[in-house]
Amino acid sequence: MSALQQWLAAHDARAFADLDAFLRLPSISARSEHAGDCARTAQFVADTLTRIGLTARIEPTPGHPIVVGEWRGAPAGAPTLLIYGHYDVQPVEPLELWTSPPFEPTVRDGKLFARGAVDDKGQLWIHLMALEAHLAVHGRLPINVIVLAEGEEEVGSAHLEEFLARERERLACDAVVISDSTMFAPGIPSILSSLRGLAYVQIDVRGPAGDLHSGMYGGAVVNPAMALARILATLHDADGRIAIPGFYDTVRTFPDHVRAAMRELPFSDAGLMHEVQVDALGGEAGYTTLEKLWTRPTCEVNGLLSGYTGEGAKTVLPATAMAKVSCRLVPDQDPVVIAQLLEAHVRRVAPPGVSITVTHLHGGRPWRADLQGPIIDAGRAALAAAFGREPVITGEGGSIPVVGDFERILGAPVLLMGFGLPGENAHAPDEWIAVDNVRRGMHAAAVLYEEYGRRASITSHQ
Ligand code: BES
Ligand code: ZN
Repeated sequence: MSALQQWLAAHDARAFADLDAFLRLPSISARSEHAGDCARTAQFVADTLTRIGLTARIEPTPGHPIVVGEWRGAPAGAPTLLIYGHYDVQPVEPLELWTSPPFEPTVRDGKLFARGAVDDKGQLWIHLMALEAHLAVHGRLPINVIVLAEGEEEVGSAHLEEFLARERERLACDAVVISDSTMFAPGIPSILSSLRGLAYVQIDVRGPAGDLHSGMYGGAVVNPAMALARILATLHDADGRIAIPGFYDTVRTFPDHVRAAMRELPFSDAGLMHEVQVDALGGEAGYTTLEKLWTRPTCEVNGLLSGYTGEGAKTVLPATAMAKVSCRLVPDQDPVVIAQLLEAHVRRVAPPGVSITVTHLHGGRPWRADLQGPIIDAGRAALAAAFGREPVITGEGGSIPVVGDFERILGAPVLLMGFGLPGENAHAPDEWIAVDNVRRGMHAAAVLYEEYGRRASITSHQ
């Protein structure tokens, strides 16, 4: 066992006790009543960074603050690694479906349950502990490090892009590592090669000036709930293809070798159906499930609201109806263009008798890695050391909009090395992270910094 591993093992209880305190802070970025909690959580991250030996600053934004930690004592010529994570979490409703309360972390059966356990506090914590291990054992890090923890990832990272652009020089780095994703399966470490983007809109349909008696007016006055249902039903054709004109125009197909590698992964539709407890899958005809999830764009309803939803029956013709609709995007779809195409389509198919408002909520670009260079090699070596086997290359259906921004604005390649598992209920009740993966993650992160320092230095001396 290396000295770093020994230190991590000896400080395991404290690492989990502090993670417990981190997870207790209800940093729900979407809710204005939790703004104070987000600020307190930013402070917690900054205090942790200071305690382990980095300098820390809390940068206010018009939304929730960004925390930046720095350690720049590496020998001349050593590379700089930026570690990104987010301290904000998703809302916790429906509360009654949690086995233990979301902000009272509980371990059951090797699983640490809490909102943010896997997305992303637990995974950010992995890096903070790995940094602490290096600083405690060696008194220094093998590389220069910038830690960037934001508090608005779950609501679209509205202020991060501007922050990156403004602070481009201070944040200059040779590579970025992010642990905010999942492994392909238990025991199979994974490097993520793609993320989908996102275009999110809200559609408001307005009919009569107020709610009406559905007997006195129904049949003659256009019902906004029905109008909205008809609009939504036009978004796909019978084969599950998206029927918005122009939607697929800029979709670039994934290279054959990437699709071939996907087919090699041990995946079964039956396993997915079992995981989510359904008896059939759907989606676009002509693609395997992993292709649908990782390489094809979608258009989904995320929320619907109209009319009477209380107990019993109420005969009402509602005045309004609302839908939240988001499209997951693949390279090279542009979130702004897709939101415009979606809006134009909705307006075109809307029936007379209702008025439509489309509000663009947020978006993010899709991303695809080129999977080469010292940070990727270091990631492979670190994961192999911690998990005892080579990582597989996976894709991802979710989005981390800032990944593309890091490459574009900072010009640095990104390694996505996640320690979550499928079925960990991110964004849902009973979110958890495997305790064993937190430990292996700390080991992997500690090795990553060493391997990256070694490889990046070698490269720069050639
Ligand atoms: N950590 C997730 C994204 C993710 C999930 C990556 C699973 C890999 C595997 C992230 O916090 C997230 O949920 N992002 C949002 C982005 C959105 C709010 C802009 C998403 O994908 O819905
Ligand atoms: Zn996340």
